[in-house]
Amino acid sequence: MFYILELEGKRILVTGVAGFIGSNLSDELLEKKASVIGIDNFFNGRMDNIKDSLQNQNFTFHKADIRDYDFLLEICKDIDIIFHEAAFTSVPQSVKMPISCNEVNVNGTLNILNAARIRDVETIIFASSSSVYGDTPTLPKKEDMNLIPISPYGVAKLACEKYLYAFYKVYGLNTVALRYFNVYGPRQKDSTYSGVIPIWLGRIYRDENPIVFGDGEQRRDFTYIKDVVNANLLSGVANNIAGEVFNIGASSPITVNELADIIKKICEKEYLGVDFTDPRPGDIRDSFADITKARKILKFEPKYNIQTGLKKYIEWSKSRNYTI
Ligand SMILES: NC(=O)c1ccc[n+]([C@@H]2O[C@H](COP(=O)([O-])OP(=O)(O)OC[C@H]3O[C@@H](n4cnc5c(N)ncnc54)[C@H](O)[C@@H]3O)[C@@H](O)[C@H]2O)c1
Repeated sequence: MFYILELEGKRILVTGVAGFIGSNLSDELLEKKASVIGIDNFFNGRMDNIKDSLQNQNFTFHKADIRDYDFLLEICKDIDIIFHEAAFTSVPQSVKMPISCNEVNVNGTLNILNAARIRDVETIIFASSSSVYGDTPTLPKKEDMNLIPISPYGVAKLACEKYLYAFYKVYGLNTVALRYFNVYGPRQKDSTYSGVIPIWLGRIYRDENPIVFGDGEQRRDFTYIKDVVNANLLSGVANNIAGEVFNIGASSPITVNELADIIKKICEKEYLGVDFTDPRPGDIRDSFADITKARKILKFEPKYNIQTGLKKYIEWSKSRNYTI
């Protein structure tokens, strides 16, 4: 692929490197012969996710917090690109703890931007989210739509996008925001605050019915991790995209009820039912991406649909004795 050489030898900071997306991204960067400097405070990350990378001479890890500005100022010396994945990542948790969410997501991101500006970092790619769109009825979601986030998490992501744009405009920093839509795949945790797929896989493996919030007819774009990693690499080396925002999704929506059927079928547990419960505050009804802009400018093309992505994810968990 054309971007391999462009990443070779680059010094790349990955925040949230022990998390789901950060660790997968870091693996791919190491594969492309970049030097990865990873940071994580283990709020939600796992040492297990980076244990192989720690054997790689091109990988350095620091247990650190993005709220620590002095540390960031030090670590950003001599960095070419930052992939900023660290965050308070759960919508329901942000509803319970809005101040903590703001401190990590907004103040932490501002710390990174300012340290990057002072240290002359070339490029910053930020992990934004489909949650910035909020519950607007227009579908699919396009980058230039009106944004009305309805959760503290969504508001914080939008605030970060605005800071990225301001840092591009005022200081000329090469900033890009990628709005991910429901990412899933190996290393995504099965925990109360995870995405729906790992939680359901955990339940299905234990022979329990998946739980649906609402009527299950809400539509979502489920995006396989490899496609999200690829979008980051493309953005890291693209020219003339400073200040831009891109949707990154599979652009192939399904309902949550359809998702339950697909997972049960792949796991050969079609005899299981589904338990319905009340919708959660902060959750969005329908969300799927128009990725025309990413296709055109980044040459991004999702390579996995829900069937092929889920099969890969399930194969991975089988190889770990059905742990997620
Ligand atoms: N997974 C998705 O579906 C999805 C969708 C949209 C956006 N995103 C965004 O993508 C990024 C990565 O998400 P993920 O799914 O890998 O989540 P994750 O929770 O697995 O990873 C986030 C990592 O950040 C670390 N972290 C949290 N607070 C920190 C702090 N103060 N200092 C340093 N590290 C800290 C955590 O320990 C964790 O390892 C996040 O910014 C998230 O908001 C994810």
